[in-house]
Amino acid sequence: MLKFGRRLDGWSVTSVCPRGTPRDLRPSRNMYVYIPHSPLRDIPQNRSPTMSTINQAFQSLKATRPIDDVWVRSDEYHNSFLIPRDEALEYARKNSTDHGLPEIAVSAAQGKLLHLYAKTIGAKKVLEVGTLGGYSAIWLARALPEGGELTTLEIDEKHAKVAQENLDHAGLTSKVKIVLGPAIDTLKKIPTESQYDLAFIDADKESNLDYVLEAERLVRKGGIIIVDNVVRQGRVADPSNTEDATLGVRKLLEHLKNDKNVDATSIGTVGEKGWDGFIYAVRL
Ligand SMILES: C[S@@+](CC[C@H](N)C(=O)[O-])C[C@H]1O[C@@H](n2cnc3c(N)ncnc32)[C@H](O)[C@@H]1O
Repeated sequence: MLKFGRRLDGWSVTSVCPRGTPRDLRPSRNMYVYIPHSPLRDIPQNRSPTMSTINQAFQSLKATRPIDDVWVRSDEYHNSFLIPRDEALEYARKNSTDHGLPEIAVSAAQGKLLHLYAKTIGAKKVLEVGTLGGYSAIWLARALPEGGELTTLEIDEKHAKVAQENLDHAGLTSKVKIVLGPAIDTLKKIPTESQYDLAFIDADKESNLDYVLEAERLVRKGGIIIVDNVVRQGRVADPSNTEDATLGVRKLLEHLKNDKNVDATSIGTVGEKGWDGFIYAVRL
């Protein structure tokens, strides 16, 4: 039977294994599958989804699955050499889950990649759109030198509160500022002179283009703009897929095609999350 749980910007499927469900349609490790921006998102919390919405969600689920165990094993294998266990990061993940935040943070390997991008360019000022529990913020903030600062934007009060706890626990209180509110409003208030070295965009995908346009205004020449979740297990390139998040990524790609402000590429980051990729753009 399917059971759904309401999340901030989508519904999670908490049980998707009716007897006889083919193995490749089952969630491989997690007992629930988060479907951000699924058709279920518009259903009020006190109402049950209709059968037709459930069917749509299930189609969306099938498109998301399977997380191939091979990629889980692959990330675990590589991480065992390159990413030592880290108490603060593990605390951030657990504390976030314990508070009911959705498990949609970047993976450890992706977090480290962000960290290394920031280090490579000697970033001192970083902007993040979409904080959640502060997992990627910890990776990014740790790349900053003494006096460096990360500003991270979050719309959800509970997420911001948990993120603050996690950042405090990681000893990063003085380096990271969480700004609560709709990211676009916050971004528009940041003066152009602020000049960031790197922007990481990982919030509501429908607004990707708006965020990138603001990032182009705020990131210095030679700086980097990274956008998460732009491949979506190939769904962005699948014309039959018309999810809001997919449309948001396509709109961004259309813009980047002729954008003279950045030079960009998309790179698939298949790993333990089983899907996805970054856009990596250098500010020209
Ligand atoms: C994918 S999560 C961010 C994950 C985080 N970057 C990490 O990897 O640890 C997206 C976050 O964006 C936030 N968000 C969604 N819409 C937003 C908006 N309009 N303004 C600011 N934050 C938003 C959500 O509440 C959620 O916490």
